[in-house]
Amino acid sequence: MSDWTIRLAERRDVNELLGLEQAQFPEPWTKNMLLDEITNTETRRYTVAVRQGAIVGYLGVMFVLDELHVNTIGTLPGFEGRGVATSLMDDAWRDARERGVVRATLEVAASNQRAQRLYSRYGFKPVGIRKNYYARTREDALVLWADVVASDESKPARPTLDS
Ligand SMILES: CC(C)(COP(=O)(O)OP(=O)(O)OC[C@H]1O[C@@H](n2cnc3c(N)ncnc32)[C@H](O)[C@@H]1OP(=O)(O)O)[C@@H](O)C(=O)NCCC(=O)NCCS
Repeated sequence: MSDWTIRLAERRDVNELLGLEQAQFPEPWTKNMLLDEITNTETRRYTVAVRQGAIVGYLGVMFVLDELHVNTIGTLPGFEGRGVATSLMDDAWRDARERGVVRATLEVAASNQRAQRLYSRYGFKPVGIRKNYYARTREDALVLWADVVASDESKPARPTLDS
C-alpha cells in the first residue's frame, strides 16, 4: 500500500519542485520555467506525489495534438524504488486515455538505465538518438515513443510488496 497521494501541482509547490530539480538534474529548470509549466494548464499537466505534507515525486507532461510528451519526472532522492514514479505514470496514462492521447514520447539520457526501465514498462521503445542533447554533459539522449492505448495491455504486472 502506498502512503502518498497524487494531486495536480499548484503555484505553492514551486519552491519544493525547484529543490527536487536541483537535487536531480545537472541542468535544473529555473523557478520561472517551473512556474510557467505548472500554470500552463491548457497544454501541460503537472502532478505531485505528496506524503505527510511533503512532495516525494513529480511528473510533468505536455500535450501536442494527440501526443503526450513527458517533460520531466523525478522522485525525491532516498525515496526511489517504492513505486512513486510508477504511480505518477499510471495516473498520467489514465488521464491521457481519457483525453484521447494515442502516443507518447520523451528524451532520456543514454546512461539513465533506471528511467529507461521505468519507461519500458509503459511500452516506450527507442526510435532514435539526439547527439549531445544535454548541453552541460554533452550526453546523448535516446528518443523513445510509446503507443498509449496498447501499452496498458502489454504492461507486465507490477511487483507488489507481498509477492
Ligand atoms: C527514474 C526515477 C524517476 C524512478 O523513480 P522511482 O520512484 O524510483 O520509480 P519506481 O519506484 O516507480 O520504479 C522503480 C522500481 O521500483 C519498483 N517498484 C515499483 N512499484 C513498487 C512497489 N510497490 N514496491 C516495490 N517496488 C516497486 C519497480 O519495479 C522499479 O524497479 P526497476 O526500476 O528496478 O525495474 C527516479 O530514479 C529519479 O527521480 N531519477 C532521477 C531523475 C531522472 O532521472 N528522471 C528521468 C529523466 S528522463
